[in-house]
Amino acid sequence: MAHLIPSSQPWVEKYRPKQVKDVAHQEEVVRVLANTLETANCPHMLFYGPPGTGKTTTALAIAHQLFGPELYKSRVLELNASDDRGINVVRTKIKDFAAVAVGSGNRQGGYVCPPYKIIILDEADSMTEDAQNALRRTMETYSKVTRFFFICNYISRIIEPLASRCAKFRFKPLTEDVMSSRIMHICNEEGLSLDHEALTTLSSICEGDLRRAITYLQSAARLYGFSISSKELISVSGVIPQGAVQALFAACKTGEFDTANKEVSNVISEGYPVSQMLSRLFELIVSSDDISDVQKARICKRLAEADKCLVDGADEYLQLMDVASHLMRALFDMPQEMQFD
Ligand SMILES: Nc1ncnc2c1ncn2[C@@H]1O[C@H](COP(=O)(O)OP(=O)(O)OP(=O)(O)O)[C@@H](O)[C@H]1O
Ligand SMILES: [Mg+2]
Repeated sequence: MAHLIPSSQPWVEKYRPKQVKDVAHQEEVVRVLANTLETANCPHMLFYGPPGTGKTTTALAIAHQLFGPELYKSRVLELNASDDRGINVVRTKIKDFAAVAVGSGNRQGGYVCPPYKIIILDEADSMTEDAQNALRRTMETYSKVTRFFFICNYISRIIEPLASRCAKFRFKPLTEDVMSSRIMHICNEEGLSLDHEALTTLSSICEGDLRRAITYLQSAARLYGFSISSKELISVSGVIPQGAVQALFAACKTGEFDTANKEVSNVISEGYPVSQMLSRLFELIVSSDDISDVQKARICKRLAEADKCLVDGADEYLQLMDVASHLMRALFDMPQEMQFD
């Protein structure tokens, strides 16, 4: 249906590469899969890496290129975290699909059509250990007619026996150059104008996650029209502006508790996420030249503790206030704890 109402289609889907060769920045896997397309040889695969780097895209692209639209349904089983993939499904649905024999691989209509099926298990790190264990035998028993593609963010959550049966590929975060060129491509297609500063801002706030970059771009285009500035991108992305981080740091540098308190209240009332503020303060402090190593160490220790407290559900205002007061004490070389004697 999506083609009937093109304007409402999310750009992440619209600009998802259809062919393996169009996947940017993941040279190793692209090379191996190009070889698969020629020879139809394919090992079990394990793709891992941070979000938005092309893992799902690559797996879907190779499956489409191997089988084409006609055979895709009968040859590819796609399961992700929204499907049940507990041990029962492994024993029934996956096993049944894996066991079905398939015809020999003839090239049909330009597609390679190898003599096996593909099972794509997306977000495999959310599968239970039992379910993963149950897959070990299935993978071996049906290896003649079935290949598995595991996709995950955290490879440590895939049990070793599964990982060792697969060819592993790490998907790297995209570099700013690669991100910029993909974004420029979308801007050209959509008729957006983005100046150089906006482009670098977008590439740097997304930290190698192209999906995030494309989503921000589309939100900004909806809100602000066809000419988008760096400031507008920052506001749709919800990242804390550098000015706000510096203001808090400057307030702590004055050494006056009231000034710092006012800035902290400001951060809270603006609704900035405190955990993000801690990371930004961390970056600022580590790169400051006018703070000694000992001071940096003291501050960072407290930042780490506050981060942990926030994860455990502590109050944002109190934690940030505590960080600010520690920061002041460290900057003025005051003892960590007050002594009353
Ligand atoms: N290497 C890449 N080359 C080109 N486009 C990419 C690349 N990586 C991501 N994209 C873009 O980002 C979108 C999301 O990518 P994809 O779904 O493949 O991410 P993923 O690695 O599976 O992430 P997650 O771990 O969150 O599932 C794609 O639709 C595509 O537009
Ligand atoms: Mg994915």
